[in-house]
Amino acid sequence: MKDLILDVDTGVDDALALLFAVRHPELRLRAVTCVAGNTGLGQVVANTLKVLDAAGAPDVPVSAGAERPLIGPARDAGHIHGTDGLADLGLPASARKPAPETAGVPAVELLRDTILGAPEPVVVVGLAPLTNLALLLRAYPEVAGNIERLVFMGGSASTGNATPVAEFNVWHDPEAAAIVVDAGVPVTMYGLDVFYHVSVDAPTCAELLGHEEPGSRLAGLLLRHQIALCGADPRVNGDGLLGDAGAVCAVADPEGLTTELLPVSVELAPGYSRGQTLVDRRALPGEDAAHGLSGPAHGVDVALGVDALRYRRLFLDTLLSGPPS
Ligand code: BDR
Ligand code: CA
Repeated sequence: MKDLILDVDTGVDDALALLFAVRHPELRLRAVTCVAGNTGLGQVVANTLKVLDAAGAPDVPVSAGAERPLIGPARDAGHIHGTDGLADLGLPASARKPAPETAGVPAVELLRDTILGAPEPVVVVGLAPLTNLALLLRAYPEVAGNIERLVFMGGSASTGNATPVAEFNVWHDPEAAAIVVDAGVPVTMYGLDVFYHVSVDAPTCAELLGHEEPGSRLAGLLLRHQIALCGADPRVNGDGLLGDAGAVCAVADPEGLTTELLPVSVELAPGYSRGQTLVDRRALPGEDAAHGLSGPAHGVDVALGVDALRYRRLFLDTLLSGPPS
């Protein structure tokens, strides 16, 4: 059993990740923290609570975190996730209030308390701009000792999506991403190099939609949105992306991912390449100095390959297995 914390900007694919994390028998979701990204912070919190209700996990602690990046204003992705960030499905609002309204615990404190209070090192998964996690690691560096691994969906060793070279989560808060890759905890970067390969086809989506159980059916509705959104995108072949949920599949089943330990730096300079993750894939150590590149470069397990069918099957089997007991 793995103890897990998710940091999210729910978001259609964050919702898929939440549903998967709640359902997977070897994962124990200990807390969820929210950050501005796909939509504004208040909407992210409301969406997260709705999804956990539908997933049959109304008791998982949820807390609100940063409402904007460390530097600059928040920028949303409503063109992808719908005006409410959750495909405008009209899900009922949760009756639950998140911390801090209920318990006075902001996200950074919930993260610290959950990590330090866990009996075994936890896996922390960032599926959003890394603002909350950067604030945590700067305010309470002692948490590093009880983090088994930090997996984040973000970055790219090739092209970007928010810009030609920058992926959305890193582009939204590059300084936060730089702090996280430099924090001294084992980090896995689940970036666009694998993100665009893990998808679900229309028959699988129909199977979920036909299910009576609310969490499974919600997964079907979200994937139907993803299929419509991806349309003719040749990278996805008419399927719907699992997106962030793929990063949680990688926690449950790391064997499905091929990674390489590589130096990664985040471009922080203003301009066209701000937010790019510079993944150094050259063969020889020390070439940085030889070529005059400056700035720190840190060892990150960069995901470069994925067994996409294996994760599709894992997602479907997990979502069809019914709510947690
Ligand atoms: C990332 O950006 C968001 O829109 C998705 O939820 C995912 O976390 C992909 O670049
Ligand atoms: Ca996300």
